[in-house]
Amino acid sequence: MAFERVCSLSEVEEDEALGVTVGAYDVAIARHGEEVFALQNMCSHAAVALSEGEVEDCTVECWLHGSRFDLRTGKPTGLPATEPVATFPVDVRDDAGSLAVWVDTDTTLNGVTPA
Ligand code: FES
Repeated sequence: MAFERVCSLSEVEEDEALGVTVGAYDVAIARHGEEVFALQNMCSHAAVALSEGEVEDCTVECWLHGSRFDLRTGKPTGLPATEPVATFPVDVRDDAGSLAVWVDTDTTLNGVTPA
């Protein structure tokens, strides 16, 4: 399927991830400054949407038990989660004068197979 447009960049808040559906997957779009990241929108500890947690210091927090996941690597930075979540390639493209976020869920950046 390759890259698909998922949202405009302006929809992605600094402190909150945006939940979108890309192909077969729910994906959380989050930003750290000018960088944009896409992670599978499901905590690796239980089936909780990561887009409902807060984004801080290039991590997103799972609201249920508080594990944080590094937006770059998908790895948890603390317990109780121990497994990384899949991270997908992101491209920010000019879309008729404003910036849009594109994601490719055919592949993952960190080699984790999406659940
Ligand atoms: S469900 Fe996310 S840390 Fe437990």
